[in-house]
Amino acid sequence: MPNNVLSVDDQKKQAARFAVNDLVEKGILRSGMRIGLGTGSTAMPAVHRIAELIGEGTLSGLLAVPTSFQTTIACEELGIPVYSLNSREIGGNLDLAIDGADEVDPDNNLIKGGGAALLLEKIVAYNSARFVIVADESKSVDGLGTKFPLPVEVVPEARVSVTAHLSRLGATAAIRYAVKKAGPVITDNGNIILDCLWAPGTSCDPRALEEAINGIAGVVENGFFTKIRPAVYIAHADGSVEQR
Ligand code: A5P
Repeated sequence: MPNNVLSVDDQKKQAARFAVNDLVEKGILRSGMRIGLGTGSTAMPAVHRIAELIGEGTLSGLLAVPTSFQTTIACEELGIPVYSLNSREIGGNLDLAIDGADEVDPDNNLIKGGGAALLLEKIVAYNSARFVIVADESKSVDGLGTKFPLPVEVVPEARVSVTAHLSRLGATAAIRYAVKKAGPVITDNGNIILDCLWAPGTSCDPRALEEAINGIAGVVENGFFTKIRPAVYIAHADGSVEQR
C-alpha cells in the first residue's frame, strides 16, 4: 500500500485548508467580506483555517454568518465575529459561503443535511454571490439519492402525510433518530428529519425533485442543492485536490 494514503478525516482537512488558501490567493476570500460558514466535519477545518488567517493578520474585518449551533460555537470559541443573515451589516446576502456536502454529482448538484443543518445552509448558500464546497473523495457520485439518503426537514405534525407524499415520489422515508436522546433528531429549527432513499438504479432528477418535495405541505426544506452552481474542491487519498 502506498504510504501517502490519506484517511477520510485527513482528506476533509486537506480539502478545507487547500480551498481556503486557494480562495485567499486568488482574492476570492478577502478582508471585510460577509461570509457564510457551513456545518460538519469538513466545514470545521475551513472555519479553523480562516481563524488562523485572522490570527496571522492575513484576513481582517470578516463578518461571519454560521449555519448551525455547531458553527456558531466554533466561531465564538475561535474569535470569529458572528452575525445573523438579518443583521444590518449583512443585509440578507453574502459575498461567499463555504460548506461541506454529502454527495456531489458530475454537474455539482448536491445532497446536504447529513448534520441536519440543511435549512440554514440552503438559505445561506442561495443568498451568497459565490458558493464553495469542500469534500473528501467519497462524496463524489455519478447520481444523487440512491446511496446517501436525502434529508427532508419536516414539521413534526406532518410526519405521516409527508412520508406518504414522498412515497408517491418514489422515496422510502425514515425518521432520523437521535443518539444519546430518546426519539427523533430535532433540528436547530425545532423540526424533524425524514431521510429518503430511492432504489438503486433509479434515475433521480434532483432539480425536479427539489421543487416537488418543497411543494408538499409540511416540508420545510430538502437537502437537494441544484439552484446554485458551487465551485467544488475534492481531496483524494493520494493528497491531491481536484477542483471542478
Ligand atoms: C450538515 O447538515 C451537512 O450539510 C454537512 O455539510 C454535510 O453533511 C457534510 O458533512 P461532513 O463534512 O461532516 O461529511
